[in-house]
Amino acid sequence: MEKKSIIRQDEILEFTSLSYYDPSKIQRYYTFKENQEECTWEEVITFVNLGLDQDFYKNINLVQDPDTLTVLVNKYNQLPKEYVPRDLEIIHPDFNAGEFVLCKEAREAFEEMSRVAREDGILLKAISTYRSYQYQEEVYLRKKTPDMSMEEYRKERDRVSARPGHSEHQTGYAVDINDLEETFAETAAGIWLATNAYHFGFILRYPKGKEHITGYAYEPWHFRYIGKKHADKMQALGITYDEYYIRYLLNSNPV
Ligand code: DAL
Ligand code: ZN
Repeated sequence: MEKKSIIRQDEILEFTSLSYYDPSKIQRYYTFKENQEECTWEEVITFVNLGLDQDFYKNINLVQDPDTLTVLVNKYNQLPKEYVPRDLEIIHPDFNAGEFVLCKEAREAFEEMSRVAREDGILLKAISTYRSYQYQEEVYLRKKTPDMSMEEYRKERDRVSARPGHSEHQTGYAVDINDLEETFAETAAGIWLATNAYHFGFILRYPKGKEHITGYAYEPWHFRYIGKKHADKMQALGITYDEYYIRYLLNSNPV
């Protein structure tokens, strides 16, 4: 507790009044703030609650509410290996590059969004959606060559691909759209999505410049369905879903 002496009284009041402040983590908050002085207290509390004061894939929690629309899956929160969403439905062929499926509510919202985009002359097609644990394992290991150690491989691969159990694609609420290149952001479809997706309940899950929070490089094609109410609020706040979850969803704080 010796760090407490460098924190002013008004600062203590500022962060202890935050609804997501957790007194059991106070020492971790102080340590984090000491190492990252430029962070606001709001950020310090959010980042420590997310687990960001530890390395990615350290202190992993098993997700307890996998069927919840707003479930958080990231490098600290893992879905059960056997988890398969109950209401997967195939996306309409007009907006489907294969036989891709999403959870019912997300499937309906994706089709609605794609129909509106089409009226604007934009073609949206799902190119990857629900992925099982086993399929994600295959995706994650796809680029591994026999000469690479797993440690070496993970260093590069972890920036762009989730380890099995940690992919949002396993929730049935994530969709990759049109192509997997960063240049997608500059295409008409990429711009349309970045501007409009939230009206349909979808959010850009891995924004540019937020790798230190999400753990992933920019993915302008990966959208996550969370419903219109939360997507609206997130858009207005301009924060990542990881941060939003800690501040507004974890303890069911009012939106
Ligand atoms: N590319 C994203 C992060 C995934 O593998 O789920
Ligand atoms: Zn994706």
